[in-house]
Amino acid sequence: MEGKFVIEGGKTLAGRLEVSGAKNSVLKLMAAALLTPEECVIRNVPRITDVETMAEVLLHLGAEVKWQGKVLRIRSGEFPGRKAPYHLVRKMRASILVLGPLVARYGEASVAIPGGCNIGARKIDFHLKGLQMLGAEVITEHGYITVKARRLKGRNIYLDFPSVGATENLMLAAVGADGVTRIENAAREPEIQDLAEFLRGMGVEVHGAGTPLIEVKGGLPERGTDHAAIGDRIEAGTFALAAAVTRGELDVRGVNPFHLRLALEKMGEAGVEVELHEEGFKVRGAERYRAVNVATLPFPGFPTDLQPQMMVLLSLAEGVSVITENVFESRFMFVGELNRMGCDIEIKGQHAVVRGVGRLSGAEVSATDLRAGAALVLAGLAAEGVTEVMEIHHVDRGYENFEEKLRSVGANITRVMS
Ligand code: UD1
Repeated sequence: MEGKFVIEGGKTLAGRLEVSGAKNSVLKLMAAALLTPEECVIRNVPRITDVETMAEVLLHLGAEVKWQGKVLRIRSGEFPGRKAPYHLVRKMRASILVLGPLVARYGEASVAIPGGCNIGARKIDFHLKGLQMLGAEVITEHGYITVKARRLKGRNIYLDFPSVGATENLMLAAVGADGVTRIENAAREPEIQDLAEFLRGMGVEVHGAGTPLIEVKGGLPERGTDHAAIGDRIEAGTFALAAAVTRGELDVRGVNPFHLRLALEKMGEAGVEVELHEEGFKVRGAERYRAVNVATLPFPGFPTDLQPQMMVLLSLAEGVSVITENVFESRFMFVGELNRMGCDIEIKGQHAVVRGVGRLSGAEVSATDLRAGAALVLAGLAAEGVTEVMEIHHVDRGYENFEEKLRSVGANITRVMS
């Protein structure tokens, strides 16, 4: 698709929006479907390019993948391939998540080494160290990581940092190990709980997802499962901030509001009115906002994936806010673009000093990554005049029908193909 977004700012958003299924959950559920030859059904699947890339990875491995609207049917058959090639892994780092299930099921897997990315080095050492602790041999050559294990053996693994991807990869590998694997200092993100639910649906014994100690009892599943993915909390948070920066009012549905509790609390501290309900939450923007300090942290902390969008709100606040990025070391690449729109943000190491400017002015800007792209769209919605956002393939990786959804609540945004 690509093209560019052309946004005429200054329109107040109002109405109701339904969020899609969580990208960061669906990608892992798709990898988990490799654990069994039986059909797995995943519902509430967003049609976004990251999910399409994961579908390509699975097809390449020999699985059957069928789309039916928001439903994906995956059957990994008996003899899938074992190698995720570079041309797919370079499009999406999450392809690395097939390593765990393939080793669990076949005792061997190769994945191209994911290169750097725009938000930092994003190493995979915890994934590999954990697999080694389960008894696998890791060989790195010709740009590929090959993991081999005649038998994986369950044991205690301690993560240096509660990495989301490493926790998931090790949960999936542990399904093929003899005995119980305990992952300590595990990530607690809601998407990990969703993965555990999916595994339980296949008959795997998993305990503790959502806490820092996850236990997986080894035993490959002989049945598939039928599971609806949780709603996308980052998309929901993005819409909340879109309402806030346009001083509008949105009812955001299809998400568990407790999955983004702290982010909503912080918005509340800044002056946004937030009301939780069973299907999601309502947000109402205000005329004036207060500066607040934000520090990104693993769940339940403030999500790094909402940090760029929050920065737009804080640019409209009165006073100076400090945003501290604790999860990714270089997630401030987009700040230069926001400053071109009239923001006053200074980067000092892992801190961004955001001086509220009150008003933004439309400009031509480029998305540097997925969430930065969303932040630039929000800045465009709030700005005076016209904003053009380029490089929007980044946005298409993670937001389903982004411009259609925003248009349905009053935004003036169009995708112009050039
Ligand atoms: C996932 C999400 C991403 C989100 C991030 C943090 C998916 C597809 N992506 O990414 O949207 O921003 O969680 O919530 O779910 N690290 C290492 N070694 C490792 C693994 C990680 O040093 O082996 C470091 C990373 O460089 C980073 C930090 O740990 O600084 C967190 O990364 P991690 O939680 O693994 O993020 P992802 O799973 O890649």
